[in-house]
Amino acid sequence: PTVTYVHPDGTKHEVEVPAGKRVMQAAIGAGIDGIVAECGGQAMCATCHVYVESPWSDKFPAISEEEDEMLEDTVSPRTESSRLSCQLVVTDEVEGLIVQLPQEQV
Ligand code: FES
Repeated sequence: PTVTYVHPDGTKHEVEVPAGKRVMQAAIGAGIDGIVAECGGQAMCATCHVYVESPWSDKFPAISEEEDEMLEDTVSPRTESSRLSCQLVVTDEVEGLIVQLPQEQV
């Protein structure tokens, strides 16, 4: 699936991501700054914070308790669209996914 990462200034990065890969891993692999991922995907750092809106938000599993706790520690404000990108596995269902990057991660 194609995933588009949108920086706060509107710059877009389109990345072809194989199904099964996480939104965070794909961004790191593509050299996209804006996702730091200090803990390497353990849902323990909140520096992979992104905003995912409808219709894609509904296509990912609900926020786990662990993720919910970490989302309380994001540097940029948490909104209803906030997710940890290390907890989002890309599937064919999310083709065209748009991920908004927050202003800051650390
Ligand atoms: Fe640390 Fe996602 S990479 S919480």
